Amino acid sequence: MAYRLTVLGTGYLGATHAACMAELGFEVLGLDVDAEKVASLQAGNLPIHEPGLEAILRRNLANGRLRFTTSYEEVADFGDVHFVCVGTPQKKGEYAADTSYLDAVIDSLAPHLRRECLVVGKSTVPVGTAERLAGKLARLAPAGEAAELAWNPEFLREGFAVKDTLHPDRIVLGVRSEKPEKIMREVYASMLEHGTPLVITDYPTAELVKVAANAFLATKISFINAMAEVCEAAHADVKQLSLALSYDERIGGKFLNPGLGFGGGCLPKDIRAFMARAGELGADQALTFLREVDAINMRRRARMVDLARELAGGSFHGCTMTVLGAAFKPDSDDIRDSPALDVAVKIAQLGAKVTVYDPAAMDNARRLHPELNYGTSALEASRDAHVVLLLTEWREFVELDPEELGSVVASRKIVDGRNALDAEVWRAAGWHYRALGRP
Ligand code: UDX
Repeated sequence: MAYRLTVLGTGYLGATHAACMAELGFEVLGLDVDAEKVASLQAGNLPIHEPGLEAILRRNLANGRLRFTTSYEEVADFGDVHFVCVGTPQKKGEYAADTSYLDAVIDSLAPHLRRECLVVGKSTVPVGTAERLAGKLARLAPAGEAAELAWNPEFLREGFAVKDTLHPDRIVLGVRSEKPEKIMREVYASMLEHGTPLVITDYPTAELVKVAANAFLATKISFINAMAEVCEAAHADVKQLSLALSYDERIGGKFLNPGLGFGGGCLPKDIRAFMARAGELGADQALTFLREVDAINMRRRARMVDLARELAGGSFHGCTMTVLGAAFKPDSDDIRDSPALDVAVKIAQLGAKVTVYDPAAMDNARRLHPELNYGTSALEASRDAHVVLLLTEWREFVELDPEELGSVVASRKIVDGRNALDAEVWRAAGWHYRALGRP
């Protein structure tokens, strides 16, 4: 059977999922409560910078497989499988995740569910949420037990959202009966045919896989950044250390790039929510190490400010600084918890004249931090700079010509916050080159 799919919530995850499932050949109806967002998506405009996604969106709007609406009634009538993709942000002033958007979706959708269907949660949630939502669904849906819930966490990375959605490393499915498994095997048939591993499990395990994966990734980054701290104290080179570690197959080289640390809308908030939930479950001791993972990560930002001050000659006052990068990572316009912007704001507060440039995140950065100056290119932003800080490793920054950049700055001083440049090349061009964790 060709199931008809709906996607509830058209943020990063939802917009990607809706477009990619249509690309696989399904009829898809996306829903958002934000009418402006719906109109924009329906017109083929993607509100995020994500390589390849806008073309897929437009192609599937044009062929009629994909549409968007604000009506829950329409969604309930249309869909056999409803994917829930709303956000679970960090609650203000605490570590816990706010699951109110998920509750709002179930509250709005369930009363319209009159026939057999499957509701599939994809959001990152505190363990136990699926169980609670399943109870709510059973209570509110006129279809009763014919409206079932499954949990199918999403692991996509920004910048690789299309690839990660269409060719995931694994599919994890939390279920309570056999029917959802059968349906989801059909929905993801094209991926399963290509050998994508499928892990069928219960709700809590499925929910935990997601936060455990993010906790592991965050730990790996903070581990190498902790080594960077020790390297600095011992006059050793963390980049070479990381390379040497990576040849051990048990360790591997991915997520072992030392630098300014992790940011974005997922890793920081997910490890905090994970700690909060473990605390509620009486298992807080198991995750106290994540507090240190978080602390190491935040210390990198403070260390970057210190290094910038050192290169500025001990004080930021009267110093012109260029910050290359505003997005939390390259190939993204996302500035949520961006280490680069965090540092830019801090050094501006400390008295530096800061000019920021980013290939994609300028509008977002300007909106959030109108107090900073913004350039129109890396070169233009670096004019007369006393110090250049490379804080997000966009390819165009990594490929900057040290001579060309050297010809516009006031002094050839650069801090490589992502260990992305070839130190020898920059030093040979007369630059005072510094990096986190390197002599
Ligand atoms: C992450 C997870 O990778 C993804 O599986 C999950 O679904 C959502 O959270 P994302 O936030 O898009 O994805 O970014 P990711 O590529 O994981 O990078 C996170 C942060 O870590 C970035 O700020 C990046 O610059 C930083 N990072 C990454 C490092 O500092 N060093 C590394 O070696 C790798």
